[in-house]
Amino acid sequence: MLNTPTILVTGGAGFIGSHLVRRLVNRYPQHHLLNLDKLTYAGNLANLQDVESAPNYTFVRGDILDGDLLADLFVKYPITGVIHLAAESHVDRSIAQPMAFIETNIVGTVTLLNAARHAWGDDLADKRFYHISTDEVYGSLGDTGLFTEHTPYDPRSPYSASKASSDHLVRAYYHTYGLPVLLSNCSNNYGPYQFPEKLIPLMINNIRQGKPLPVYGDGLYTRDWLWVEDHAEAIDLIFHQGKFGETYNIGGNNEWTNIDLVRLLCDLVDEQLGRPVGQSQGLITFVKDRPGHDRRYAIDATKIRTELGWEPSIQAGEGFRKTVQWYLHNPEWLANVTSGAYQQYYEKQYAGGR
Ligand code: NAD
Ligand code: DAU
Repeated sequence: MLNTPTILVTGGAGFIGSHLVRRLVNRYPQHHLLNLDKLTYAGNLANLQDVESAPNYTFVRGDILDGDLLADLFVKYPITGVIHLAAESHVDRSIAQPMAFIETNIVGTVTLLNAARHAWGDDLADKRFYHISTDEVYGSLGDTGLFTEHTPYDPRSPYSASKASSDHLVRAYYHTYGLPVLLSNCSNNYGPYQFPEKLIPLMINNIRQGKPLPVYGDGLYTRDWLWVEDHAEAIDLIFHQGKFGETYNIGGNNEWTNIDLVRLLCDLVDEQLGRPVGQSQGLITFVKDRPGHDRRYAIDATKIRTELGWEPSIQAGEGFRKTVQWYLHNPEWLANVTSGAYQQYYEKQYAGGR
């Protein structure tokens, strides 16, 4: 693999990263896929068991803040492309512990930008640096309207502020140094292998165990949900066909209030476990709100649809059903990732919240 054109993916052992790595390893056998991941609580090599022995795949455990390691990787492998997903990604953790978000999401991104810039120098002909970002940088919508690529940034949590900062830095490296960059800002993903601190897997896990379902505030907050494999497909397209310096919004065209979604998940779990449908809705518990909670996100994905021909492939009902099925069929995966440190996080996050 030392002479094979290499795509460096950061954060490839996380939720979205693992779906992306699987897709790229299988679709591009002529490319070497190098997965750099620190394996924080959110990174899990079990997410990639099916590709770990593929001949075109290498895993390196390491931190994007480690500039020496990054320089060594650029020397060792002919890296022509970087797809940067490594991040601290959970809003509630950013409220409790913002510094990790500043370090990884901002300083880590600049460290990676510097490594690519120094390794590539002026030889930029076949190079690309793709930064994966979030719709949360645009702030909060009211009852109507959609985020476009021209919506002004208005981040409101330490997480979204750190992602917004990293987006600005990536664009600055394009304008200042001519680094060939691409960006995308995506809505909420769902599907297998998502860490159960996030709404959907947390609720499925609690429903199956008959535990309270902590809905923040009035439950009328709205998110635009996208099947994670559709995001991986969009990333693949943008990486190969996107225009340098440009940003693409990616969304599911699939808005749900949290309370409606939690009710649906209750019914899907009840149905799949053979319980009376409706029974688990009795577990719903309204708890204190997330500080600075963004009311609504929704994406206008016209640009990626018209310029690159991408659309979500899966209907919402089918996607949520498949997701519930996956978590119910993989209790050992849930048990592994929810043991230890997660228990402490959960108890602290939801303590006395009713
Ligand atoms: P995740 O938390 O599941 O995974 C993050 C991965 O990054 C983990 O494997 C972790 O070990 C790794 N990581 C963290 N810090 C690192 C460091 N310093 N060095 C190397 N690796 C490190 O996140 P996710 O939900 O898969 O999100 C991936 C990316 O997509 C993030 O940049 C996030 O901001 C963005 N995003 C996520 C969503 C979503 O709904 N989950 C939506 C839009 C954008
Ligand atoms: O929009 C993209 C973003 O989506 C990504 O950039 C983030 O990495 C990802 O975590 C996600 O952020 P959200 O804050 O929207 O996702 P989360 O799953 O944490 O929460 C979804 C909604 O559900 C939100 O309105 C808060 C609410 N919620 C969440 C949890 C964990 C609850 O009501 N109860 C909960 O216990």
